Amino acid sequence: MRITLFGLGYVGTVTATCLAARGHDVVGVDTDPGKVAVLAEGRSPVVEPGLDELVAGAVSSGRLRATVSTPDGLAGADLSLVCVGTPSGAGGGTDLTQIRKVVGEIGAQLAGMSHPHTVVVRSTVPPGTVDDIVVPLLEETSGRKVGDGLHVAMCPEFLREGSSVTDFFEPPFLVIGGSAAAAASVKEMFAFLDCPVESVPLRAAESVKYACNAFHAVKVSFANELSRLYRLLDVDTRRVMEVFVQDRQLNISPAYLRPGFAFGGSCLPKDLRSLLYLARMNCVDLPLLEASLATNEMLVRDVADRVLAAVDTAGSRRVALLGLSFKHLTDDLRESPNVALAEILIGKGVDVRVHDPVVNMSRLSGANLRYVQAKLPHLQKVLHDDPAEALEGAHVAIVSSADAAVVDAVVAAAPPLVLDLNGRLAPLEALVGYEGVGW
Ligand SMILES: NC(=O)c1ccc[n+]([C@@H]2O[C@H](COP(=O)([O-])OP(=O)(O)OC[C@H]3O[C@@H](n4cnc5c(N)ncnc54)[C@H](O)[C@@H]3O)[C@@H](O)[C@H]2O)c1
Repeated sequence: MRITLFGLGYVGTVTATCLAARGHDVVGVDTDPGKVAVLAEGRSPVVEPGLDELVAGAVSSGRLRATVSTPDGLAGADLSLVCVGTPSGAGGGTDLTQIRKVVGEIGAQLAGMSHPHTVVVRSTVPPGTVDDIVVPLLEETSGRKVGDGLHVAMCPEFLREGSSVTDFFEPPFLVIGGSAAAAASVKEMFAFLDCPVESVPLRAAESVKYACNAFHAVKVSFANELSRLYRLLDVDTRRVMEVFVQDRQLNISPAYLRPGFAFGGSCLPKDLRSLLYLARMNCVDLPLLEASLATNEMLVRDVADRVLAAVDTAGSRRVALLGLSFKHLTDDLRESPNVALAEILIGKGVDVRVHDPVVNMSRLSGANLRYVQAKLPHLQKVLHDDPAEALEGAHVAIVSSADAAVVDAVVAAAPPLVLDLNGRLAPLEALVGYEGVGW
């Protein structure tokens, strides 16, 4: 393909060079004449292991050249790849000045041209940038309509400086946001990659990149936070984490990474509190772990507020809570966020009717029974064996149970608001009043 790449920084230089090394004709455009001159000499304007040799090879083969001129760079191109910087602006927001400028220049150049063209944003941009800024700007400056020979995609970059060439050729996945036509051009450009391809909506493609970087930051801080406490307890966290990462079932795995409702149960809250207590005793702040308890409580509060707003507006105060234990297939109610939710709602005068396929008052015992007696002393009165009974006359159904009888009952008699706390209740998603807790 004939590719014009805008922005010969760390991402752009590696990308332009590696694409040329895989047979594409690439022109790099940068406003910095120094970078363009260095590349024209067959050298890399950025330092990265293995890059100098690749640049020299790509330039001498004629597959890679650089220019400061957008018209020169774009002549005859099939695809524009936008790799300009998106630095932090005032207040921490993203400064999109470089994006706006380069997209405006591309649009002006495409005006009057009928050749099919795809603009691919590779820079990291906040969710909504492509839809709300790039597409309108491109349409305005080119006078062309996106979707009609002109396509726009978002394809985030996941390479790391220091190993960028290897990372470029071995990415974890190729994430593409945009129409089928735009995605087809991106796939053609990256046909040499051997990795999973994920086609997602534009905003999801933009969001995946931030999710990855936020998670990496959380992981680093998690290990470092533990080590600040454990050092004082005479524990070597390097050894702890060597063992920790060997658990590929629960630790380094997709487990616990599904959006849904708050965590609870007899272990997570208790053991987090215990760690935070140890930290306080040793005068160490663990803000990340503290925040995970706080954000968990905030989620329960948010859901309660949404339900209260709905019943207040409707003037009907009956709510069906379908699922009470802290997770599916257990009757353990200790520190269940559903119990906390019921407690808040009942305290606000809401007529809560509860059904849980696994919870049976006559079988509760020990700490489990004591917990629920303390939190919901009248549970017996509001607990229903049949989900249909719990749903009778309800304005809201709050559904966390994935039990088939529960899901069927909600579909059969759906209240005006069906709030899904689970995220894997597909039959409910078609209901008129369906709302996901976080989607
Ligand atoms: N650096 C990384 O490790 C990394 C990894 C993944 C994603 N990203 C993202 O990729 C993007 C680029 O990052 P970077 O580190 O390569 O940035 P950078 O600042 O090193 O490079 C940006 C380049 O764009 C050029 N430029 C600015 N305006 C231009 C214009 N109108 N026309 C042509 N060129 C122009 C600049 O002169 C500069 O050379 C950012 O959004 C960044 O968040 C970076």
